Amino acid sequence: MPKINLPVTRYYGSKRKLVDLIWSELENINVEFNSVLDVFGGSGIFSYYSKLRGKSVIYNDIFLFNQIIGEALIQNNSNELSEEDVHNLLIREPNRIYQNYIAENFHDIYFTDEENYQIDTVIQNIGFLPIERRASAYYLLFQSCLIKRPYNLFHRKNLNLRTNFNGGGFGNKVTWERPFKELFLKFNSELNKYVFDNGQNNISLNHSALQCNLQADLVYIDPPYFRSVNHVPYHSKYHFLEGLANYNLIPENIDHTKLHREINLNKSNEFENKNTFLNDLEELIEMHQNSIIAISYRSNGVPTIAEIESLLNQYKNNVRAINLKKYSYALNSKGSENYEFLILGF
Ligand SMILES: C[S@@+](CC[C@H](N)C(=O)[O-])C[C@H]1O[C@@H](n2cnc3c(N)ncnc32)[C@H](O)[C@@H]1O
Repeated sequence: MPKINLPVTRYYGSKRKLVDLIWSELENINVEFNSVLDVFGGSGIFSYYSKLRGKSVIYNDIFLFNQIIGEALIQNNSNELSEEDVHNLLIREPNRIYQNYIAENFHDIYFTDEENYQIDTVIQNIGFLPIERRASAYYLLFQSCLIKRPYNLFHRKNLNLRTNFNGGGFGNKVTWERPFKELFLKFNSELNKYVFDNGQNNISLNHSALQCNLQADLVYIDPPYFRSVNHVPYHSKYHFLEGLANYNLIPENIDHTKLHREINLNKSNEFENKNTFLNDLEELIEMHQNSIIAISYRSNGVPTIAEIESLLNQYKNNVRAINLKKYSYALNSKGSENYEFLILGF
């Protein structure tokens, strides 16, 4: 078994720092499982950990860009992208016709003009790679775009935070300014290090949670999380990457009324609406009532941990809500406490 060594990803709500603890709680209940369904896969860290532990893994996420990340890290058994491929990604082939959707529509929004042109180039060159290398190439592009963004997000037009940065406050100017080529090489060597074969047939899917009908011994549910105010849906946070994953659909899906030019692809209210969240969760639990269910949530969220527990109690004989205290977040501005919980039903 490979040593526990996890890829560093920059993703909102990633459980990278908690996954060890979550796994030891799963072992504590002493119920055997061989297969795992990670319904809200995100960065893929829970799936990756499960793969390391020899399980048969199904990664799923509503966004295509995440499915591709899951394909590169979980489904693939090796990284087939060579260093030469990486160099060629950034070069325009003279006899190919290129579109410039990013350069034309996202001037001064997320990246510099030169970087926008490079993104247009890379995306279209990926389409000419042999199919088994494409997910890795997209992985390099998505991770590099994330690392170059202030806060690693796309819900604000704030390139100026990066270009006007004068050294105070936050951020990492050096990282933001690292050229794509350098970042691609870094992420490609990370893929070489992290992608492996665990002897199972692991897959990466792109469904909404309630449309994902596959079953597994253990279902891990890590949905979007609501505080009582100011919810920013995952779609707003990452629409730009979802656009890149669907490049040809970008022009007709840009919302020009929004300053940050949100790309309206694969936007959904499922698990992203406070009023219907509990109903969505009940439907999902019902779908997987024959599996071990593990839910991640936080103590200051809506719904409450008690509400989620009582929902799970309707379907499962054993329900435990475990406070993963050690990794609690700092007190918020109102001074209330906020803990990560793992709610288990088996
Ligand atoms: C809290 S994050 C998961 C984080 C992940 N466990 C990790 O460690 O990186 C929630 C994920 O759910 C996805 N998502 C949001 N709504 C969804 C839906 N209705 N069905 C499936 N995935 C959804 C988002 O794209 C996001 O990646």
